[in-house]
Amino acid sequence: MRILVNCALPYANNPLHLGHIAGAYLGADIFVRYRRLIGDEVMFVSGSDQYGTPITIQADAEGISPADLARRFHIEHKKAFEGLSIKFDIFSETMRKEHHENVKEVFLELLKKGYLYEKVMNSPFCPTCNRFMPDRYIKGICPHCGYDEARGDQCENCGKVLDPKDLISPRCAICGDSPEFRDTKHFFFRLSSFQDNLINWLKGKEYWRKNVLEFTRNFVEAGLEDRPITRDIEWGVEVPVEGYEHKKIYVWFEALLGYISAARIYSSQQNDPERWKKYWQDGNARVYCFIGKDNIPFHTVIFPAMLMALERFNLPYDVPANEFLNFSGKKFSKSKGVGFTVSEVLTKINGDYIRYYLSSIMPETGDSDFSIEDLREKVNSELIGKYGNLAFRSTSFILKNSLVPRPGHDDEYPAVLDFLREKFALYRGYLDGIEIKKALHEWLEVVQFGNVYMNRSAPWKLIKTDSDSCSSKLYTVLRIIHYATVMAYPFIPSSAERIWKMIGMKTPLESSFHTLSEEPSYAPIKTDPPFSPVELSSVNPNSLDLRVARIVDVQEHPNADRLYVLKLSLGTEERQLVAGLRNHYSREELIGRKIIIVYNLKPAKIRGMVSNGMLLAADNGKDVRLLTVGDHAKEGDRVRIGDYDYNNHGRIEIRDLEAYRLHISTIDGKPVATASVDDETLVLNCRGESVFPERNIEENSRIR
Ligand code: MF3
Ligand code: ZN
Repeated sequence: MRILVNCALPYANNPLHLGHIAGAYLGADIFVRYRRLIGDEVMFVSGSDQYGTPITIQADAEGISPADLARRFHIEHKKAFEGLSIKFDIFSETMRKEHHENVKEVFLELLKKGYLYEKVMNSPFCPTCNRFMPDRYIKGICPHCGYDEARGDQCENCGKVLDPKDLISPRCAICGDSPEFRDTKHFFFRLSSFQDNLINWLKGKEYWRKNVLEFTRNFVEAGLEDRPITRDIEWGVEVPVEGYEHKKIYVWFEALLGYISAARIYSSQQNDPERWKKYWQDGNARVYCFIGKDNIPFHTVIFPAMLMALERFNLPYDVPANEFLNFSGKKFSKSKGVGFTVSEVLTKINGDYIRYYLSSIMPETGDSDFSIEDLREKVNSELIGKYGNLAFRSTSFILKNSLVPRPGHDDEYPAVLDFLREKFALYRGYLDGIEIKKALHEWLEVVQFGNVYMNRSAPWKLIKTDSDSCSSKLYTVLRIIHYATVMAYPFIPSSAERIWKMIGMKTPLESSFHTLSEEPSYAPIKTDPPFSPVELSSVNPNSLDLRVARIVDVQEHPNADRLYVLKLSLGTEERQLVAGLRNHYSREELIGRKIIIVYNLKPAKIRGMVSNGMLLAADNGKDVRLLTVGDHAKEGDRVRIGDYDYNNHGRIEIRDLEAYRLHISTIDGKPVATASVDDETLVLNCRGESVFPERNIEENSRIR
């Protein structure tokens, strides 16, 4: 079969985080690898979505051009995908001129066919910023619930959809000024005229995921309105019509066409410029769009309507949208500092391990929760403990005893093969229907079965009594590993590759489906254990929640003459904390002082008094110096370690602190508080200023 797999074009203004990966990209890559494994012809396409107002605004804030910003994130995205072995045939850019040409062509064709028309809108304009404000950049009071941070398109508090004109006391989200409403002319796409066609098309989509289908049906049945597809912005694809020199095509309208542009660009790169038509226009090919759930209506309603209007294109065959990945109960989000970016995790954890874990918790039918602890546990016990270990102990045993694994003397072999074929059929069924988690589970059952079989066969005993039968039992075990490895490949390609070589397979694994029905002679080769376990001893610089506090009261600890009991103010909250400062500071020296505390430390009782958190002080074995910050920092402010934002890691123990190796460094001639993470020295900082000891203390003094 010929299959085109499109994957949502990620915005080029934020790093990719694990939520994106679990939401769309990993599932797509697994599906693509699986289809190639069974011999399908696949094209796999994505790229950076480089236009839109957020990119302009962020570029302004950084004082660089939007193109530079978009380029930078494009390069970062490519690296992130590479680190996770997510391998597109093309990862394009919407800034490319071929994309602009494609979009303008489509625009003019739709215009000619009468699917576009012009209409005057009355839109909010900020006189201070001197530009029309996109709906989400207008804030005001929600007329329904009174929430005063409601956006022009929706109130985040009550969820109601809004028009900027509904807002009470509207203001510009950038500068705070109140907008005027001005007339401006735009092109509209006649989405409304596709309602019946869409309803009919959806009738054949019973095989879609329930949430996607239901959402789409409701959306279409609620009635479709025509949509403006141009905007009063400077950054985007030009509108190929006179009088629109200061307007651009709306980012969603052109980004969706980015799938087609990318397929065209790729075909040209392959010196086969018409090839994309075999995917987009040949009725036998299937088009898939892998996306996160927030993109559903664009891919199941608007894009199909655009393609219907163009007449000659295949519509999406399936749009397997995933739900969200959560981190400690909250949606992953870099801007809100929840969870990890791909580049952060890749410095700690092997790409295949991340793939394995995310596959096992993929949010296919509901949100799921990511936990590093859970990752470690699953990878160590399943991937390494069951799969890697089975391959290692069976091949080492064969090599150590110079055995030649051969079929013929294992009565159970036919039954084992039946079992493997049955599991593989289930696995295929699941992957054909894009049920990643269930497919992975079938793999795990094969691996578990392999371990049971190996133990039950006990070749270490058999070798003493019946070496033919021993060789055959081991052949059966290798046959199980052979199946398991083909099945593992889409999920953990590099790891599977390693095991493939270990059992002595020579054919390329990525198209190895046919080898399953053959009866290869396995020739294990000598290796080290194939995987190393996940060690979490090295820390994430963003799991420590440090805050600024002010000491408001100091009492002597009733049961310990070196300890004080401090009362701290953190702005909105007070805390009690016990500290061993009595030999170093008087009460008067402490009251009113601004200090730094570990906020997410598990509370403890110290000699009968509750201590909630721990203060940070430098200590050279003799003197003790409290850490503090400059005047800008306020009580309750977060202190960052380098550029890392705290990621809602949860409470930590005192011993976890060790790993950060907090100490005093000299920077620009001044002592400052730093952490060492992976041999990098990161400065503790708050509101752009470094944290420092309140009086000088020598370099390398430890902080505790
Ligand atoms: N950039 C969008 C997002 O990250 C997705 C765009 S998908 C496309 O949510 F097809 F329109 F490009
Ligand atoms: Zn403004």
